[in-house]
Amino acid sequence: MSVQKTLSIIKPDATARNLTGSVNARFEQAGLRIIAQKRLCLTRAQAEKFYEVHREKAFYDSLCEYMSSGPVVAQVLCGDDAVAKNREIMGATNPANAEIGTIRRDFGQSIEHNVVHGSDSPENAEIEIQFFFSQLEIIE
Ligand code: CMP
Repeated sequence: MSVQKTLSIIKPDATARNLTGSVNARFEQAGLRIIAQKRLCLTRAQAEKFYEVHREKAFYDSLCEYMSSGPVVAQVLCGDDAVAKNREIMGATNPANAEIGTIRRDFGQSIEHNVVHGSDSPENAEIEIQFFFSQLEIIE
């Protein structure tokens, strides 16, 4: 087990429903620390850049439109095996397939409006953290 950092985004469907605190409680109850956090509105161009890896997917346009449609909360979570642990806490991408007790199952509305994003590997976590935060903003 190693201490890792991972990037989390609380998505527009969750900020619109005032769920930031409820989502953060899930992270903290599971032992992850929120060591950086900011609320912002992504431009369409920023959303396109962040999700560039999905550019060829059928849902890319809709995803970028949605992610730039309202406020998001970008966060750095830290803890033992934070990347995998966060993915466990979030649950499957599609809320309909997520385990009961996960964030997406309990709060998700659809595969697009699925409350949270989390990095899928330590390597991508590093890249995604740098997309949103400078070193000065991450307080361990
Ligand atoms: P996220 O973890 O943010 O990574 C990419 C996002 O694309 C994913 O969560 C979903 O919200 C979204 N996504 C994945 N598959 C689909 C799909 N089939 N239709 C619409 N959105 C999708």
